[in-house]
Amino acid sequence: MSDIKITIIDREGEAHYVDAPTDMNMNLMEVVRMHELAPEGTIGICGGMAMCASCQCYILSHDHLLPEKSYEEEDMLDQAFFVEDNSRLGCQINMIPELDGLEVKLAPQST
Ligand code: FES
Repeated sequence: MSDIKITIIDREGEAHYVDAPTDMNMNLMEVVRMHELAPEGTIGICGGMAMCASCQCYILSHDHLLPEKSYEEEDMLDQAFFVEDNSRLGCQINMIPELDGLEVKLAPQST
């Protein structure tokens, strides 16, 4: 088993402590979908291409080293609604063992 545990607070404010596999090349948006923590069609709309911001989330834990934002992610967040300093696109954050204990909150739906 190479799962990590992460906490995802859904758009209703409910916290879910879930498993996230690190050996399947999954990103955070896909983990949210796998656990059905956001209604179908409201997250992952662009398929993880950093082109829709439907996967925007706020990073709540401070002790994890996240990947640098790509130009595409910065650009998309510049155009998105409800953006905060700790906003990231979930589809750009791959599940790796170092992210065990990560805590995120899904941003409100903007469409
Ligand atoms: Fe579209 Fe992440 S799924 S930007």
